[in-house]
Amino acid sequence: MATERPEADVAAEMERLRTQIDTHNHAYHVLDAPTVSDAEFDALFDRLLALEAAHPELITPDSPTQRVGGAAAARFPTIRHPLPMLSLGKCTTFDELRDFDVRVRRLLGSDDDIDYACEPKVDGVAVRLFYEDGRLKLGATRGDGEEGEDITANVRTLAAVPLRLRGENWPARLEVRGEVYMPRADFNAFNVAARAAGERELVNPRNGAAGSLRQLDPAVTARRPLTLFCYGIGRIDEDWPLTSHVASLDRLAEWGFRINSDTRRVTGIEAVIDYVETFLARRGELGYDIDGVVIKVDDFASQDALGVLTRTPRYAIAFKPAAEEALTRLLEVDFQVGRTGAVTPVARLDPVFVGGVTVSNATLHNSDEIARLGLRVGDLVWVRRAGDVIPQVVRVEVEQRPAEARDIVFPDHCPVCGAPVARSEGEVVARCTAHRTCPAQLVHGLLHFASRGAMDIQGLGEKIVTQLVERELVADAADLYGLDAETLAGLDRMAEKSAHNLHGAIQGSRRRGLARVIFALGIREVGEATAAALARHFRSLPALWEADEESLQQVRDVGPVVAREIAEFFVQDENRALVERLLAAGVEPEPPPELPVTAPLADQTWVLTGTLEALTRKEAKARLEALGARVSGSVSAQTDCVVAGPGAGQKLADAERHGVPILDEAAFMVRLGELEA
Ligand code: IVH
Repeated sequence: MATERPEADVAAEMERLRTQIDTHNHAYHVLDAPTVSDAEFDALFDRLLALEAAHPELITPDSPTQRVGGAAAARFPTIRHPLPMLSLGKCTTFDELRDFDVRVRRLLGSDDDIDYACEPKVDGVAVRLFYEDGRLKLGATRGDGEEGEDITANVRTLAAVPLRLRGENWPARLEVRGEVYMPRADFNAFNVAARAAGERELVNPRNGAAGSLRQLDPAVTARRPLTLFCYGIGRIDEDWPLTSHVASLDRLAEWGFRINSDTRRVTGIEAVIDYVETFLARRGELGYDIDGVVIKVDDFASQDALGVLTRTPRYAIAFKPAAEEALTRLLEVDFQVGRTGAVTPVARLDPVFVGGVTVSNATLHNSDEIARLGLRVGDLVWVRRAGDVIPQVVRVEVEQRPAEARDIVFPDHCPVCGAPVARSEGEVVARCTAHRTCPAQLVHGLLHFASRGAMDIQGLGEKIVTQLVERELVADAADLYGLDAETLAGLDRMAEKSAHNLHGAIQGSRRRGLARVIFALGIREVGEATAAALARHFRSLPALWEADEESLQQVRDVGPVVAREIAEFFVQDENRALVERLLAAGVEPEPPPELPVTAPLADQTWVLTGTLEALTRKEAKARLEALGARVSGSVSAQTDCVVAGPGAGQKLADAERHGVPILDEAAFMVRLGELEA
C-alpha cells in the first residue's frame, strides 16, 4: 500500500510526475507539439492527484495540479510595477517607419543599417510575470503602466504559463512581459458552446481574453481558452548577461515560455518593411488577432542609449495599418440622382473610423447590390474603405439584426423631381426619366460642365450650383455665361470678392477649346480622350452633330455603343438648342491645331513597355506624340510598333503574337533621331 512506502520515496515519485507532466504540458501548450496522447497525460495527472490526496503535506505550490486554487477573491489587490510597463508610439505608413529609422540612427550617430527585431503585435491583454528562484511569484495586469492588479491566481490557470522554469541558468529574479490572448478557433468554439447552453457569448477574442483574466473566481478563468506569447524581458538586475532582445527571447523559450515563432531579426528599415508587408498579408491565416507589428532596436546597449520618452520607448514603435473594415449601424438609406439620372442608394451610417478617416456615408450602388447584401435599415454592417476607394458596405451581421429593422424600398419616382424612375432592359441602374428638368440632373450636369477636365470653372462648387438651380437663375449651362457679378454676390455665403472671381472664371472659360466643350456636354460614354479624338476628327460642333453613326465610327476609339450615344444625344432638340445657346453666349470651341500633314507617325499607334534607360516613359511618349503617333497602353493587331525595354512581359508577348514590329531601346533611339531630323 502506498501509505507504507517511505515518505521520501513518495516525494521522489511525485517530483518525477510533476516533471513529466510539466514536460508534456510544455510540449502541448507552449511548443504546440504534443508528445503523448490525452489518455497517457490523464493517467499521469490522476496518479499525481491520488498521491497528493494521500500526502497533502507533500503538495507543492508549483505542482501542475495546483493551477486552479484558492477561493474567489473579492477584488484584485493593486500592485506597483518595479519597472513601468511602457506603451508604444505608433505609425501607420511606411514613410513614418523610415522616419523612425532616421531618428534612431541620428540619435545613435550611426550611418549603418540597424538590427531590428520584428514581432506580431498580438491583440490581447498585457501581463507581467515575476519569477523568483525559478518559481512563478506574481502575475499582474498592466493597469496604468505604473500600477496594475495582482491576478496571480488567474494567470496560474494558463497552461502556457510555466509555474516553474525549465532549463538552467535563469536569473534569481526574472521579470517577463507577454500578451494573453484567445486563439480565434477557441473563441469561436467557446461561443458555439455558450450559445448552445443559452449562456452569454463573448464579443470578440480581445474582450474575451480581458474579461476572462479579470474573473474573480480563478475556476472560471481556468475554463476559458487563454494562452500567451511572451515578448520581452524586464531587466531588473544590473548583471543581466544577454545583450540583445532576440537573444533574450531565445533564452525565454529555453526556460519554457511561449514565444511567437514569427519573430525575426532583420537588418535595415527596408527589410523591416518587407517583413511588415509579408506578415500582414498573412494576417488572416494566423489563428489569432493582431493589431500590427512591433519593431524594436535589437541591441540592448542601443536601446539604453535611445532611452524612453515619458511612457513610450524611443527604441521601439508599433506599425498599425489603419483598419480597412469596421462595424457600424445603417441608420437610413437615401437616394441620390446623378447627372445621367441614375438613382443611387446611399447608406447613411453611424459615423465610424475606418481606413484612417471617419465615414458616415457609403455607396450601395443599385438595387441588385442591396438585394445581394440582404440589407435592411437598422442592420449592423461592415464598412470597408481601403486607400482612396469610396467606402462600401460589404457585409451584414444578419444574426444581430434588431427587431425593428425594415426593408429598403427603392423609389418608383425620382426623389428630387417626382418623375417616374425606370430601369431599361439589361441595365442594373434605375434612372429618373426627366432630363434637364430634374434639378438633381441639372445640378450634376452643371458640376460636370464646370469640372477640371471640362470647362474648368474654379469656384463653381456644389453649394453655389445648387443655389443657382433652386433660385432658377440657371436652367442650363449656357445660362452661366449670362450671370453678372452682382447676381452671384446675392447668393448665400458669397462675398463680393469671390463673386467677382467666379464671374471672371465663368467668362474666362469661353475659350477652352473644342475637345473640352464636347466633354463638358456630358454625352454618355464620352470621356476626355474620346472627346479629344472627336474634336480632332470633326473640328466643329455642327460637324459633330451632323455625323451619323457610321461616320462617328471612323474616329479612333469610337465603337458602335459610343457612336449610338453620340447620335442619340444630338437627335434631341434640347441638346442641339443647348449647343446653339452656348455658341450664342460666346463659347468659342476652337478646334485643336491641325497636325502637320507630314507628321511622320500620323495615325500610328505605338506601345512602350519594359524599362527605358535613355529616356523616361513620359519623354518617350511626348516625342512620339510630337511626331503624330498615339501612345497606347495595350497591344493589339492595330498597333504599329512596340518599344520593348528590359523587363517587358505580356505586352511583348502580345506583340509577337500579333506580328507587330518590335524595337529595342537602341533601335528606337536611332529611329527617333531619323524621324525628328
Ligand atoms: S512591447 C517597450 N511587443 O502592445 C515596449 N508589446 O502599446 C512595450 N503588445 O501594452 C511593449 N504584442 O500589450 C510589445 N510583441 C509585442 C507586443 C506588445 C502586443 C501590446 C502590449 C503593450 C502594447 C504596447
